[in-house]
Amino acid sequence: MSSQTKPTPESMRHHWLAFTSNRRFHQSPRLVSKAEGLFYHTPDGHKLYDSLSGLWCSPLGHGNQAIKEAITGQLDELDYAPAFNVSHPKAFELSEKLAALAPGDLDHVLYCSSGSEAADTALKLARAYWRAKGKPEKSKFIGRAKGYHGVNFGGISVGGIGPNRKSYGQTLDAYHLPHTWLAENAFSRGLPTEGDHLADALNQILEVQDASNIAAVIVEPMAGSGGVIIPSAGYLKRLRELCDKHDILLIFDEVITGFGRMGEVFGADYFNVQPDILTCAKALTNGVVPMGAVITSQEIYQTMMDQPGDEYSIEFMHGYTYSAHPLACAAALASIEQIANPAMMEQVRGLSELFENAIHDLRGLPLVEDIRNIGLAGAVQIEMDPAHPLKRASDISARCWEKGVYVRFGGNNLSFAPPFISQPQDIHEIFARVAEAITEYAKA
Ligand SMILES: Cc1ncc(COP(=O)(O)O)c(C=O)c1O
Repeated sequence: MSSQTKPTPESMRHHWLAFTSNRRFHQSPRLVSKAEGLFYHTPDGHKLYDSLSGLWCSPLGHGNQAIKEAITGQLDELDYAPAFNVSHPKAFELSEKLAALAPGDLDHVLYCSSGSEAADTALKLARAYWRAKGKPEKSKFIGRAKGYHGVNFGGISVGGIGPNRKSYGQTLDAYHLPHTWLAENAFSRGLPTEGDHLADALNQILEVQDASNIAAVIVEPMAGSGGVIIPSAGYLKRLRELCDKHDILLIFDEVITGFGRMGEVFGADYFNVQPDILTCAKALTNGVVPMGAVITSQEIYQTMMDQPGDEYSIEFMHGYTYSAHPLACAAALASIEQIANPAMMEQVRGLSELFENAIHDLRGLPLVEDIRNIGLAGAVQIEMDPAHPLKRASDISARCWEKGVYVRFGGNNLSFAPPFISQPQDIHEIFARVAEAITEYAKA
């Protein structure tokens, strides 16, 4: 099938789409065959704004020239290097960059190919660390309701989205903090005021489970996939203090918040809270080559390195064929160069103000029951139809598509995370079209 050909039922039969109602998709397939800058193009010539930077992963937009050149240059030099017992110069260069960018003493980087693998790598590292410290009983985890840490077994265990777990039986031993959505914070602009106290729920979990059994708490600084659910300003600080008090590691999953989404390189910078382990993926390569990374503290690294054993023993029995893949490293170096600099962060912060006004202009439209925003990320929460909980947001997203905007829906939320290279008029245009789609849908 060429990129200009429309799919037939026969040609679609073999591709089982990820996280998609395949039956619905087959009835009205949405295909993109080209992307440039802020836009996707369909095979039949429809042009769409990309209002989520792909899946939160392409903040520099599509077809970035420097990334293209970095990848093609790398292909000419070294297309693959074995990930075990061998490495290559770009892997060291990238690790040095990430260590310099990551807050505090987060100085050592493990690689993988996705956010899900990053989450599971971080969880395994937390357990291995406590074992190396002589405390193997510290093996349980605490996540948070509405949290998303990918789809592997560790990630769904600590994740707090019920439907992502319900078909899969036994998971890891994990407990969950309450989510940070509070009705009284509805329509907050930026950080909500209420909610620091929600971190104290950790104490209740520990009363039952005891800190001596807990390896780590894992949270996203802001819950992206759960619907841009933002904690209050002091929440993460309080969580950090409690983790310190009880000798529990704190892991930040920065797969969405990493690399500038909130106008600082990491969410940890935005909230000024230092985790022990930080995971990232997505924007690390601008979504062009799959890559995830786990950045860990000096204390964890050194503890693992100081384990007894002869010089041949492997300190962390973990890794992937594609860990630190040369093409991914090249793409990451080119992406970071453009994203993680003061001028780009300033640009994001400037656009964020305008984005906040534009998204909150939807307040008052029918069916809109909450709007949240932080940096260049936001969500519009649609009143659920109790008889068909997943229908409205999905239908509105389909209308947005017709109006030339790709909008991601999840549960009853429409999520937005436009590319950092958007111009003010692009943000206005996206929300004008979304407003039309919501209004028309509510009337129909
Ligand atoms: C916070 C967070 N962690 C992990 C993941 C999983 O990443 P991936 O889909 O690359 O496995 C995601 C994906 O959206 C995410 O938002």
